[in-house]
Amino acid sequence: MVSATLLLMPQGPGRGLGGGGIAPRAAPPLSGSGEQGAEPSAAGSALAAQRGSPVHSERSARCGGSDSERSVVGVTMLSRAAYSTSRKLVPALGSLGSRQKHKLPDLPYDYGALEPHINAQIMELHHSKHHAAYVNNLNVTEEKYLDALQKGDVTTQISLQSALKFNGGGHINHTIFWTNLSPNGGGEPTGELLEAIIRDFGSFAKFKEKLTAVSAGVQGSGWGWLGFNKERGRLQIAACPNQDPLQGTTGLIPLLGIDVWEHAYYLQYKNVRPDYLKAIWNVINWQNVTERYVACRK
Ligand SMILES: [Fe+2]
Repeated sequence: MVSATLLLMPQGPGRGLGGGGIAPRAAPPLSGSGEQGAEPSAAGSALAAQRGSPVHSERSARCGGSDSERSVVGVTMLSRAAYSTSRKLVPALGSLGSRQKHKLPDLPYDYGALEPHINAQIMELHHSKHHAAYVNNLNVTEEKYLDALQKGDVTTQISLQSALKFNGGGHINHTIFWTNLSPNGGGEPTGELLEAIIRDFGSFAKFKEKLTAVSAGVQGSGWGWLGFNKERGRLQIAACPNQDPLQGTTGLIPLLGIDVWEHAYYLQYKNVRPDYLKAIWNVINWQNVTERYVACRK
């Protein structure tokens, strides 16, 4: 069910909350492609993205996600194109062997740097085990996907969509998350971002309260997000289940993500997610969030 929707049709109802209104219902328009009928040139772009997308510390903020995010999106573009122009695509698939695999990005700080708010054991396991697993499984899934693509095996392509979404989303989300945190973080943003928060939420305190509540309310595993709705020019808060990537499933551009999977806090905060959510504000890297926001405004 999930696999088919990722490829073939706009995503389901957005889960955006507050701020600028409801998140867009459909996946964001992919550059140069229609929802289902991309031209061969779009597929070519996707192939180029695959070949030229090493991963990639997410230290520099980029509007619309990192190279790794675009790389995953590229697969979706390619698959969409494959449905409408499969025969035309075949000649372009010979160069897929040169694709670079995704790599686990380094943390921009030590595992213990965020203590006492997030302890070193959590950070080490979270980064070196959980994130690493998403990266490895994404690479395996992409290999299978591209093999199926080369063979014209549409059934296998569809069956891989759930794994692509989960592991690709896990890689994208955590790559953003590490840069959203800093041992020198906390406090409040300034400048353009603070002005936008006041405009769209009333005050920083109200924004903080709302994002905390939305994150606390995620059922099971997932993420709370501050995103930017480019179409409306407004900040927006959203919650995503599992590892659903914000932009790929709501259209919002991710600025700040809060991981509320138990692996992000259980070893220190046990089952008390609200305590973790209270602590994490002490290590939010507002410089990084602001850079992401400014990049989206250009
Ligand atoms: Fe996580």
